[in-house]
Amino acid sequence: MTRPGATHSRPADPLAVSSARDAVVLAAPAKLNLFLEIRAKRPDGYHDLESLMVAVDLFDTLELRAADGPEIALTCEPATLSAGPDNLVYKAAVALRAHVRRPTPGAEIRLTKRVPAQAGLGGGSSDAAATLVGLNRIWKLGLTREELLAIAGSIGSDVAFFLTLPAAWCTSRGEIVTPEEAHAGASGFHFVLVCPPVGLGTAGVYKRLAVPGAPVAGDAVRSAFRTGDAEALGRALFNRLEEPAFALEPLVGGIRERLAASGPCGALMSGSGSAVFAVCRDRAHAIRVATEFVQSRPVAEPESRVLVVRSFTP
Ligand code: C5P
Repeated sequence: MTRPGATHSRPADPLAVSSARDAVVLAAPAKLNLFLEIRAKRPDGYHDLESLMVAVDLFDTLELRAADGPEIALTCEPATLSAGPDNLVYKAAVALRAHVRRPTPGAEIRLTKRVPAQAGLGGGSSDAAATLVGLNRIWKLGLTREELLAIAGSIGSDVAFFLTLPAAWCTSRGEIVTPEEAHAGASGFHFVLVCPPVGLGTAGVYKRLAVPGAPVAGDAVRSAFRTGDAEALGRALFNRLEEPAFALEPLVGGIRERLAASGPCGALMSGSGSAVFAVCRDRAHAIRVATEFVQSRPVAEPESRVLVVRSFTP
């Protein structure tokens, strides 16, 4: 995947898999929301929220290469994915160019997609963050992390998190990110991730949301996360968007219920759905929960993609 002369030792950038002078390969991880509460509806139509986000080891891959011409040439795998201006990779490249306000070279970008879309796993936002990091490097722009964070906020609410890996407490629209430390040991937290065969649009879920009069606090989930206590984390999981998402797509609610009954420490929908995850004590526990979940599927329920993933430390 890299050119001759590429460095294969792990570069300082947490997202970088390998890099050469004018090319870079980046891993763009998925995220899970272990907690998501809504504080208020804002005049701009967005919602103020509080969320604990954590990256997991399910990745898209981006290969970026500087090009002679001015074009941003994006190719996607699978090829059915849009490679046009609506792709967040493309939007990130355009936003970066607008920020630097001087001519930049072009770029060839290859996106290999593994994180499902409309799943609440932040795949598109992660790709956008990786694009900012990659183009900053291969175009030798020298932008600071703060500058990249400002651009990230203009692309989407979740993009800033992917510049703050591997875990963060996110507030405002989601774009104010404070790194969160976990002490879950070298192997991280273990999850079963269930991706239903239906997606959910973020805007549609927010539209059905009832802003709570008495919001839930995130202290318990943050404390369990920091101490690495999977049982306590499982008990403290919370996502205000579950109710509107389950109303829109009852299959997702049914899957969350059945996953919770498969023996984990706790189960929750991620972000605005449709993916659902379960917190487990270790990898062996996660495999048992995943097996129980798969075997208990009613014949009438369409099959979901079931993965065992873990939080990671770069
Ligand atoms: O920022 P992003 O493009 O990911 O948001 C998609 C949609 O989700 C927004 O248009 C908005 O309807 C909703 N949203 C929201 N409050 C947030 C984040 C997203 O209402 N904090």
